[in-house]
Amino acid sequence: MERERWATKIGLILAMAGNAIGLGNFLRFPVQATQNGGGAFMIPYIISFLLIGIPLMWIEWAIGRWGGSRGHGTTPGIFYEIKRNNLLRVLGVFGLWIPLVVVIYYTYIESWTLGYALKFLMGSVPKVVGENFLEPFRNFLVSYKGEGQTFLKPSLYAYIIFVITFLINILILIRGVSGGIEKFVKFAMPLLFLLAIFLVFKVFLLQTEKGSAVEGLNFLWEPDFRALKDPKVWISAAGQVFFTLSLGFGAIITYASYLKRDDDITLSGLTASSLNEFAEVILGGSLAIPAAVAFFGVKEAVEVAKSGAFDLGFVSLPAIFSTIEGGNFLGFAWFFLLFIAGLTSSIALTQPIIAFFEDEFKMERKTAVLISGSIIFLSSQAVIFIKGFLEEMDFWAGTIAVVFFSLVEIVLFTWFFKGDPYEEINRGGIIKMPRLYLFIMKYITPLFLLALLFIWGISAIPQILKESKWTLWVARFYMLCLFLLLTLLVFLAPKVSKRET
Ligand code: TRP
Repeated sequence: MERERWATKIGLILAMAGNAIGLGNFLRFPVQATQNGGGAFMIPYIISFLLIGIPLMWIEWAIGRWGGSRGHGTTPGIFYEIKRNNLLRVLGVFGLWIPLVVVIYYTYIESWTLGYALKFLMGSVPKVVGENFLEPFRNFLVSYKGEGQTFLKPSLYAYIIFVITFLINILILIRGVSGGIEKFVKFAMPLLFLLAIFLVFKVFLLQTEKGSAVEGLNFLWEPDFRALKDPKVWISAAGQVFFTLSLGFGAIITYASYLKRDDDITLSGLTASSLNEFAEVILGGSLAIPAAVAFFGVKEAVEVAKSGAFDLGFVSLPAIFSTIEGGNFLGFAWFFLLFIAGLTSSIALTQPIIAFFEDEFKMERKTAVLISGSIIFLSSQAVIFIKGFLEEMDFWAGTIAVVFFSLVEIVLFTWFFKGDPYEEINRGGIIKMPRLYLFIMKYITPLFLLALLFIWGISAIPQILKESKWTLWVARFYMLCLFLLLTLLVFLAPKVSKRET
């Protein structure tokens, strides 16, 4: 069976940009910047972008293209091709397990954005009046997701919207890489940029007696250089670069496996990354925080940002939109923007497991999508109805495992790759990767990652493990079972596919 290919270069780049541009660009980035010294955050951010982001991006493209030309779109198969060692196969399972676990909760959050968008469109959002500005939307969010001690009871509306969101994902994926994903992003990504630019213009006009959007920009870009002495700022900046570029998840590798053997990596990888940075720094930086400053003033906006990305996106901004004229449409545009950003990411997170079934078990695409979809749909029930599942999965798979897995990728590719890593990245390249980068990839990036893993591991893991509510252990056990199941499948695959051919 022939592996699929991207049909056009623009489609590939938009798909990769859509993979990277997600909720993180519009919510996580502004919150991280606000919490970590405002303008000064951009210095460690840019350094991390150059020393971790770009090298890993090129490496993931190269690993993916190399694997794809040998019939593998996911890391268990690819790592085993690099070195025939069963430990490497098991390490490769992370490249399957991480996107699987993440998409299980990511799709649910994505569905909230669609739910909110439609509520705004129908005009059925709370009216904000008087003193308790944030109260109505805080309650709205609570009744939407259904808070509880152990179990959550979401509204029926929330559940239906989740099912719809899930089905939209499946409908795109079942049409395949060039027929589904590529066609979709060619229309979705321009729409995403248009919506974001429209909202930036609208936000720039906001002004109240408490502040203005311009003050918000001033605040965000006013560097507080004392922040540079704080290691936490550096760690947060590196963490954000990872998250926003979707690195270490296996998702970029799978998309890159649909490149042809001599397709350009250097310029295309750089272009997709730059599109992400434009969406993050320019557009993402000009929306949430400036709007919050215009309404609450700098001081209170910082407090809002401190309460986290979710609060900012699902409480403060909707509250602001609901008070201004034409705000229902703005609220719709804001949440629809988030929805598109989320959708182009969730399809990227689902493709690895689909590719795994197609490549390693020689399954038809439809069968692969249906099996993958069933696993995801059933698992997300736990996220929807049990408190703490979402956060626990985000921590282990989305925060810790990705740094570990990136380290594995980079060491494997720069130290143990059969061919010349420098030639492999540059083959077919429209521009040449500077030689200096080979040095960075071999020594600097791994050290940076090791330090990150060490500091995070030391500070965060013991603290998380202290939380011992039984539901969290259920979540941990569930993730372990998924890992074992995938490992079993990885070792079963060669036997099953041999029997068929
Ligand atoms: N980059 C996405 C964002 O900024 C989130 C994300 C992280 C992601 N890893 C991913 C999306 C892997 C798709 C695939 O929100």
